[in-house]
Amino acid sequence: MEDLKTLVERYKAEIMAEQPQNAAEKEAFRIKYLGTKGLVKSIMGEMKNVSPENKKEAGQLLNDLKIFTEQRFASFEDDAGDENDIAEGVDLSLPGSPVPFGTRHPISIVSNRIISIFSRLGFSVAEGPEIEDDFHNFSALNLPENHPARDMQDTFYIHQNPDWLLRTHTSSVQIREMQQGKLPLRIICPGRVYRNETISARAHCFFNQVEGLYIAENVSFADLKQTLYFFVQEMFGNTVKIRFRPSYFPFTEPSAEMDISCLICGGEGCSVCKKTGWVEILGCGMVHPQVLENCGIDSNKYTGFAFGMGIERITMLKYRIKDLRLFSENDVRFLRQFESA
Ligand code: DAH
Repeated sequence: MEDLKTLVERYKAEIMAEQPQNAAEKEAFRIKYLGTKGLVKSIMGEMKNVSPENKKEAGQLLNDLKIFTEQRFASFEDDAGDENDIAEGVDLSLPGSPVPFGTRHPISIVSNRIISIFSRLGFSVAEGPEIEDDFHNFSALNLPENHPARDMQDTFYIHQNPDWLLRTHTSSVQIREMQQGKLPLRIICPGRVYRNETISARAHCFFNQVEGLYIAENVSFADLKQTLYFFVQEMFGNTVKIRFRPSYFPFTEPSAEMDISCLICGGEGCSVCKKTGWVEILGCGMVHPQVLENCGIDSNKYTGFAFGMGIERITMLKYRIKDLRLFSENDVRFLRQFESA
């Protein structure tokens, strides 16, 4: 027993004398004393030679050595680390390296702005899947199979019979929301949409839209116009003029397209507005009664308006961007220009 005590004391002195200077030396200490074949483990093996009456005392002695060694090792973790850093030439008093701020993508900036303008009018955001079925993207919106208006929205089919496709507009989200049957309904649907288009400065095979839908009793075309007037003034300022032109969409009746006076030339005529003084920014109309019925809504009781716009188009007008492809090229020289926006 006395032998064991002296042995433990000797080891403790030896451990105290160890001064590892770097990570490798610390690891060597760990292996030598605390590893599976280390000194602490092997001295534990001495227990079998201790007589039964001394077992308790010897157990405490060895356990004490183990804790002592572990604490000694833990103490290196703190100090030796720092000494090590300084030894390697790291000056901890220097200020940290700056973390560069990213910028919001211009499409996100404008999308958030549109959402905030409409949320002040009581519209809430609704979202839906980008992979849609034929019913939600086309049929429910009065675009049955073989309808010529489908040509303008050719898209990418993921599966045929039954048809699964990449949605061509976020009007599909309007259908999903109407089917829920919770009326009145006042939503905007931002999201990415896809079309089989040749990529150019003005068109892409994917882009972003925000659609709006308001369904309640006695909603009129006057409500639609006032809502859109408010939007344009908030978005582009109150000197901008607005005009509605009659148009056609299978899911609205009557339908219109809305133009704003050209922001570049102020209506004088330039290349952006193709010398007309006006640029089209959205399509809109009163929701077709058949579309309401397709979603289980009583069209004798409820009416509604809807509108849809391309976010890229609005962003190009707002920031005078000439080429739509810039939005998806990830060129930081372009993106950095929106740091303060
Ligand atoms: N979905 C149409 C498109 O993508 C835009 C549109 C027009 C949406 C009129 C509407 C609407 O909700 O009422 O071209």
